[in-house]
Amino acid sequence: MCGIVGHFGPQNSVEIVLEGLKRLEYRGYDSAGVSFIDEKENLNVFKKSGKLQNLKDHLGEVNFTARSCIGHTRWATHGEVNDENSHPHSNNEIALVHNGIIENATYLRKQLQDQGFKFQSETDSEVFLGLLAVSRKKGLSFKETIIESFVQIEGNSAFVILDSQTSDIFAFKRGAPLVAGINEISSEVLVSSDPYALAGMVNKIYFPEDNVICHLSASNKNLLNFYEMDGTTSTRYLSKMLAIDAAVSEKGDFEHFMLKEIHEQPELIRSLTQYYFDGEGLESLKRISKIETSKIHISACGTAFYAGLLIRDFFERFNRINCTVELASEFRYRNPIIDSKDLGLFISQSGETADTLAAHTLCKNEGIKTISIVNTEGSTLYREATDNLLIRAGIEVGVASTKAFTQQVLTGRLFSAALEGVLNNEEEKKKLVNKYALLAERVDELLLKIDEIKEVAEKIYNYNGFFFTGRGAYYPVALEGALKLKEIAYVHAEGYAAGELKHGPIALIDHRMVNVAIIGPELFEKTISNISEIKTRKGIIVTIGEENNSELENISDYYIQLNLKGLDELRPTYINIVNQLLSYYIAKLKGTDIDKPRNLAKSVTVE
Ligand code: M6R
Repeated sequence: MCGIVGHFGPQNSVEIVLEGLKRLEYRGYDSAGVSFIDEKENLNVFKKSGKLQNLKDHLGEVNFTARSCIGHTRWATHGEVNDENSHPHSNNEIALVHNGIIENATYLRKQLQDQGFKFQSETDSEVFLGLLAVSRKKGLSFKETIIESFVQIEGNSAFVILDSQTSDIFAFKRGAPLVAGINEISSEVLVSSDPYALAGMVNKIYFPEDNVICHLSASNKNLLNFYEMDGTTSTRYLSKMLAIDAAVSEKGDFEHFMLKEIHEQPELIRSLTQYYFDGEGLESLKRISKIETSKIHISACGTAFYAGLLIRDFFERFNRINCTVELASEFRYRNPIIDSKDLGLFISQSGETADTLAAHTLCKNEGIKTISIVNTEGSTLYREATDNLLIRAGIEVGVASTKAFTQQVLTGRLFSAALEGVLNNEEEKKKLVNKYALLAERVDELLLKIDEIKEVAEKIYNYNGFFFTGRGAYYPVALEGALKLKEIAYVHAEGYAAGELKHGPIALIDHRMVNVAIIGPELFEKTISNISEIKTRKGIIVTIGEENNSELENISDYYIQLNLKGLDELRPTYINIVNQLLSYYIAKLKGTDIDKPRNLAKSVTVE
């Protein structure tokens, strides 16, 4: 989805904004643009459809320097993909970039046209430029102009605006992501729709609430000031100190962010228990352990939804709490039965997924408590939930979610353990910590035998289609495995409950189909029978299961052997990492754009 960046400071703003936009490429986009005030105090706008490189070529060899610049990567909603519809939009006095949708754009466009405003694009975003231009003519200050215009638009939006008279930048939002940051040493100030654009550049980060104006200006003592929509100073933002670590935004020795992120998992698993049992997370776990509820509604999208299916199993098995898991896009429009003592649990890497936020709002409106399992501190979900459990996965750049899934499931298990009273039981606590440590160790071992997985990928990548199957807790792993493969390798893959195949999909099985069969010790014999049904129909069998098992040896064309001992309820999470690697290597053989797969956006901020 669209990405926005603004910079103000002594370094060359154009370069910094282009670097920010480069980092936002992973979110998905189809055009890019920048606007800045050059040394002769002229307002410049450069925009191009296609990749960011097109924009860079368009900027050419001219070495533009500027102290303030705004930029945008557009994911088209209103108006086709072309240069005119790209952002920034400008009237030579003001330039703006926008993320979101102006829902009453058609009505406002007509009104503005009647008042003589000449549109240059088909976008809803330019409507806001029209509103600013009309207000400005009344002689209002720039802040007043923004306030008067912002109240007129409907829908969720974030804007970053450059005023050519002062070179000041203004940023504000309603129901859309926005983050600001400051580097107190070099006096750089940045704003963006995504903290990743700021990573390694700032040492203090701010998450403004809705309707707070961030003002980036040399005239501000602190360079960055916050205002309410009535013009008074605002304190409605979260702030956090950060270490400046440029490495977080780099792939290092890895060919793709996805591979880097898969490799980060052992360390992240280790630090999760440390954070929750010995660190800052303990307080949130303690608070959450006091929740009394007899029903939990889990809602999420995509990979986070599959994590929710595994978390439901924890609540049922360890807490005997009634729990439902639903796709947020469905839950929000059903008429779910919600009792005042129920609990809403929302899982999201970004904390900005439109459907998940809407499902959350539904629960809030029903007056129930809500908890998020979320990666992005300060995101909309984080701010709006009654309480939060951070998954501490760090920035996830690969569009295909890997480490976030693992951390979501593991955080969900800690939630269920806290409800079980594990925090007050040293022995149980130790057992769980040891189990997480064992998982981290096993993932380390798995990463050392990556070549075996690569070899299987080489054997199967050219087949026609893939069925990932599993039973019980391995069924969500099958679903997640198939999602991963289709999103990055662009091959047809389905996740199925192994016992369900013969109720229809088995008709598709022949010698051109691969069955990736996920099989743990639970329901082992029954799953073997399901695999046999596929083998009989000449499907290619890849099993992922316990090592040194003769039955698996006999039934498999390719057998990925794992040491599952001692992992108990964490086995599915472990096996899932094999699927991540398998998908990665199949995609690599297919030559796809692994970190930025076609048509996908990292954070889906529209429904
Ligand atoms: O940011 P969220 O966790 O809310 O995102 C939910 C889904 O959009 C996301 O998991 C998506 O399915 C991933 N691309 C899967 O790899």
